[in-house]
Amino acid sequence: MAIDLTLKIGGEGGEGVISSGDFLMQAAALAGMEVVTFKSFPSEIKGGYALAQLRFSDEHILSQGDGFNILVAFNGEAYAVNKELLKPGTVLVYDSGEEADFEPEELPGVTMYPVPMSGIAKKELNAYIVKNMVALGAVSELFKIPMDSLKKSIDKKFGKKGQEIVDLNYKALESGANHVKNNLKKTDPYIFPKARPKKDVLIIEGNQAISLGAAMAGCRYYGAYPITPATTVGNYLANDILGLGGFVYQSEDEISALGTCLGASFVGEKVLTATSGPGVSLMSELIGLAVMAELPLVIANVQRGGPSTGMPTKHDQADLYQAVFGTHGDAPKIVLAPANVKENIYLTIDAFNLAEKYQTPVFVLSDASLALRVEAIDRPDMSKIEIVNREIAKINNNSGNSFSRYLNTKSGVSPMGIPGLKGTSYAATGLEHAENSGPRTNPQTRVTMTEKRWRKFDNIENEYTPVKKIGVENAEVGVITWGLTQSIAHEAVERLLAKGFKVSMLFPKMVWPLPVKAITNYIKSVKKVLIPEANFQGQFAQIIKSHIDFGKTELIKHNIYRGEPFIPLEIEEKIKEIYPS
Ligand code: COA
Repeated sequence: MAIDLTLKIGGEGGEGVISSGDFLMQAAALAGMEVVTFKSFPSEIKGGYALAQLRFSDEHILSQGDGFNILVAFNGEAYAVNKELLKPGTVLVYDSGEEADFEPEELPGVTMYPVPMSGIAKKELNAYIVKNMVALGAVSELFKIPMDSLKKSIDKKFGKKGQEIVDLNYKALESGANHVKNNLKKTDPYIFPKARPKKDVLIIEGNQAISLGAAMAGCRYYGAYPITPATTVGNYLANDILGLGGFVYQSEDEISALGTCLGASFVGEKVLTATSGPGVSLMSELIGLAVMAELPLVIANVQRGGPSTGMPTKHDQADLYQAVFGTHGDAPKIVLAPANVKENIYLTIDAFNLAEKYQTPVFVLSDASLALRVEAIDRPDMSKIEIVNREIAKINNNSGNSFSRYLNTKSGVSPMGIPGLKGTSYAATGLEHAENSGPRTNPQTRVTMTEKRWRKFDNIENEYTPVKKIGVENAEVGVITWGLTQSIAHEAVERLLAKGFKVSMLFPKMVWPLPVKAITNYIKSVKKVLIPEANFQGQFAQIIKSHIDFGKTELIKHNIYRGEPFIPLEIEEKIKEIYPS
């Protein structure tokens, strides 16, 4: 029988909840399990409720799941927040004894394992910081998680802090395990599966996947200003590209960061910036410059709860309008939206290829949950990846003609000049310009150049078609959504298909320009369309509605805006609610 187990650790920010989750995740991945994680914490460095949730299975999993089987509560807040979810059949491992700040009540059907995590850490080991490892030791003994894997993770994470810290953490693990051996009797059914043959997997976090995709696509310049939850894209990319002759630059703000990116793109480099909604706001004038000067540019917007400072560490999908419309003037752009960590790699590569092909800004719309989500994925095979480079002008040096950087070609794309390439000098300007890049404001030039910039995308839906579909033909209910919500809705739709419901789902990866043909055909083929999104306005639904005639098909929006992603169950329930009886 398939194993599908979810373990959640909750505690106070600063208590090492996130590290504990990472260690367990690595142990599961090394044992050949499929793993999907969900992490959430407050914007304070210390204090507030932090959680790390791990779902692992011996079959493919699509999302973080609905709830949990095992809760490890480091403190009273973690218990209070999750109490309602402690249903019969679940397990609670909790901090107990006089050093703990709470005492749970008896919960019917819930297996309870008290472990004096704070007490052992403080009194036996004299180090409160290792409370999390006492808890992990207990968890390892209770659910038979190999201690060796946890020790390897300790070496890797704390090795740089010194052998003394490593030894202390080993001791904490063993103390937690010994407490279970000597004091508790296992009565729940959950056991960590035996190790399977190790696959060649990559254990990778969402932001790291964006950076890996960028490095694979040939990105050699990163210019950014730090902002939660995007900052770690640059941290990872520094490791990836510095050794490849690349350059990573942290500037004084987002405006100058994007300015440096445009300079690097002008001289021929593939460039990336990563930011979040407020950073995109600051960058928006220069995004207009990238459009006007036709400079390839990739912007990863790791969305967070806005507007303004909003909820910097929390989930939201509310920057779609900003990506599509948030630039002054008639400014064409491309927007891609990955649904999982693996797609963060491959859609980032696509973003670079599209930016190079069409000489335009391309957004990768990720989000705070996806940024921190960890998955164990098959190692990418570089030999199977197509890399596109910008078309460079070929100059006949004897022609005597000036270089037409913005040649009005049939496709709208004109070969670029590169500084140092003889005969290709031009002005990359934000002013409207003639074919030779000289400033012009006459009506004919304006019309020609506006149409040229938009014409590039006339055929993009046929040239780039990552729109897959699952489910039955002529479904009673169809689902369209974007970004992380796709992976969650996917699980809901698969569950309903397995139960015999006539449902289907469309997966647009390019959300702008809108793949009108694919979406129109899909809408015509279903009776009702559900569009779930983690934003108040139903931004994708509205964009689709303004471009596509729904005819007799009914559109139903489903919006959440609570700072957390959907769980599959609520999409499953919504589909059942609107399913014809
Ligand atoms: N032994 C030694 N050190 C340990 C340890 C142990 N057993 N367990 C944890 N630590 C260390 C970790 O290494 C980490 O230190 P490091 O950053 O030097 O590596 C630190 O204690 C925190 O532990 P960690 O497990 O990473 O996190 P946590 O669960 O305690 O939660 C955060 C802390 C991550 C929530 C918090 O620090 C944070 O970053 N908040 C968000 C801040 C933010 O982005 N704000 C938005 C601004 S706009």
